[in-house]
Order: sequence, then structure tokens, then C-alpha cells
Amino acid sequence: MKKRILVTGGTGYIGSHTVVELQNSGYEVVIVDNLSNSSKDVVDQIEKVSGIRPAFEMVDCLDLAAMKGVFEKYPGIASIIHFAAYKAVGESVAKPLMYYRNNLVSLINVLELMPQCDVKGIVFSSSCTVYGQPDKENLPVTENAPVKMAECPYGNTKQINEEIVHDTVLSGSPIKAILLRYFNPIGAHPTALLGELPNGVPQNLIPYLTQTAIGIREQLSVFGDDYNTPDGSCIRDFINVVDLAKAHVIAIDRMLGDKQKSAVETFNIGTGVGLSVLGLIKAFEKSTGVKLNYKIVGRRAGDIEQVWADPTYANTELGWKAQETIEDTLRSAWNWQLKLREKGIN
Ligand code: UD1
Repeated sequence: MKKRILVTGGTGYIGSHTVVELQNSGYEVVIVDNLSNSSKDVVDQIEKVSGIRPAFEMVDCLDLAAMKGVFEKYPGIASIIHFAAYKAVGESVAKPLMYYRNNLVSLINVLELMPQCDVKGIVFSSSCTVYGQPDKENLPVTENAPVKMAECPYGNTKQINEEIVHDTVLSGSPIKAILLRYFNPIGAHPTALLGELPNGVPQNLIPYLTQTAIGIREQLSVFGDDYNTPDGSCIRDFINVVDLAKAHVIAIDRMLGDKQKSAVETFNIGTGVGLSVLGLIKAFEKSTGVKLNYKIVGRRAGDIEQVWADPTYANTELGWKAQETIEDTLRSAWNWQLKLREKGIN
């Protein structure tokens, strides 16, 4: 019998790609999503890509009773992947309580229900934001680099949520957890049936870039070229979203196969390659043949100068490694933008 996995936030950007990979690997998926930042159509798209329609429940993780109802309706959930969260840095500064309530209480509800419903494992979406700006000697960052004080409420929710997981396990809750610290997920499914669909003006680099390339936005602003980096722009570790999705399946396999070395494990999920914002623009132009209109503007408040992963632990211990090239990844993001235009969405 197929093992059943509950995916909160399963119609979101990373969630939807992960549902496809889980189904491709023989898992049965139940999605819980309140559709606050995604749409029900994504379920159809997932079905088109994988040939399997996942169960879908439009439920808010903040609603404990409704969540309990989901666990009761779908007995025997083997493990949870908890994506559901708000993720916009700027918005979190403007609406901290909304971020704390949503991101913390959702996780608390899930953790509370797990032992009651006999669910033994959880994979949690964490972020490289927990490292803040690592000291030079800690670049690329390993999982042992110190966690720095968060720069924004969003980042703080990731840190606190990691602590909540640790404390819950330490208190004797019979659960296991894997914390995946994502670097900068980009790109779309190679079929162009799934991708990132930001609400309104995108805050993140790639959707803004592809929207500029297609003419929805006039110009991309590059936030700063006076950083202490080779070309002066910030450096990030851009990880293909399908590669990232696959890391979740491997984490679930490991958890259910009882291979964890400790009850809570933490892995960096990145490529190990630091690429500057200007370098990424060049790579986009080269791999798509599309010229991008951009200008250098001042720094964006709260930006980290440079961070990229040392993914050795995930490579050796999980047996996971990023596979896709940056060129293919950028082409996938561009194809997704073209597909949105075709569908008249943007
Ligand atoms: C941030 C968070 C990260 C989170 C992600 C998703 C931090 C430190 N990082 O990543 O944890 O998962 O958002 O929301 O909190 N840029 C431009 N022009 C633009 C947009 C971005 O130059 O129009 C630059 C930024 O200055 C940055 C890079 O592109 O250097 C990446 O920015 P972005 O895509 O917003 O992601 P992060 O800020 O790295």
C-alpha cells in the first residue's frame, strides 16, 4: 500500500513541485492549503504533470479543529511536509503579528496533532535566512554556522519554528523531524505547468526579472553594486525548485526508512555555488537570448551581502545533490513566464 503524506501548503510554489515528486516516487499525497497565496487550479496542473490527482482539502492550518478533521478523514498519515507559511520579508516587517500568528501557530497545531493522530515524522521548510550574514570564514555556510539574530519577522519565524521543533522532540514527543534549510529556490517545472505565481508586484528576483523580460515590468532594479563582492552585487545560492522538491522525497524516504541519525536533523539544501545578481542576469540573457532592461539602484534594506551553501552534509548523508544547471533553471523560469502569457494570466 502506498504511504500517505500530508503536505501543507501543497498548492504553493515549492509545495506543488514536491507533491509531483512524491507522487512520482510512489507516495499518496493529501494537500492542505488555504489558497491564501495559490489557487485550486494547481491541483489540476499537478495531475497533468504526474498523472495522479492528489487529495485536496482547503483548510487553514490555523484552524486546529479543521486540521484534526483532515487527519481523521485520511487515517494512517505516515509523515507531514509542512510548507504552509507566509514568506515575504517586507510584508513581515509591516505586519509582524500576522506573520508570527500564521507561521508559528500553524506549526504548533501540526505538532500538537501529530502524536494524537499517530503521525511520526515532519519535514519542515526552513531557510538559509537563519544564518543571517555569515562571517567570511563561515562561507560557504555549513549547518554548524551560528544562527544569527533574524533581520525580519519572517526570518525570525523560521528560527523560532526550528526551536519549536527541537523543544517538542526534546520534551519526549514521539516524533522525528528533518529541517531543510533552503537557499534561493528558483525556476519552474520543465513542463511549464507548474511554477511561481506571485500575487501583485513580485518581491523576489526571478519573478521580477522574468516579468521585466516579457514586458510586464519596465525595468528590473538591481539593489546595490557597492557590496564587498567581486562585481559589487549580492551573492546567493540559486537552487532549482525541482531539485529542491526531490530533497523532500529523499528526506521522507530517510525518515520512514528509520535512517535518521538523530530525532531532529538539519540539512542545507543549496547548490554550493554562489552567483551574484549581475551574474544571474548575464546567465539569463545568455541562456534565453532575451535582453533584460535593468538598472543599478541603491541597496535594499535588510539584504544579506552574500550567502551560499556548503551542501556537503546533504550530499553525503542524504545522497542528494543539485543536478540542474543554472542555464536550464533560468530557461525553465522563462518558459513558465511565456506559458503564463499564453494563458493570459499576465
Ligand atoms: C529572501 C529571504 C529568504 C526567503 C526568500 C523568499 C532573507 C535574508 N532572505 O531571500 O529567506 O526564503 O526571500 O521570499 O530574509 N534583488 C534585486 N532586485 C529585485 C529583487 C531582488 O536586485 O527586484 C536582489 C536582492 O537584493 C537579493 C537577490 O536579488 O540580493 C535575491 O533577492 P530575493 O529573490 O528577494 O531573495 P532573498 O532576499 O535572497
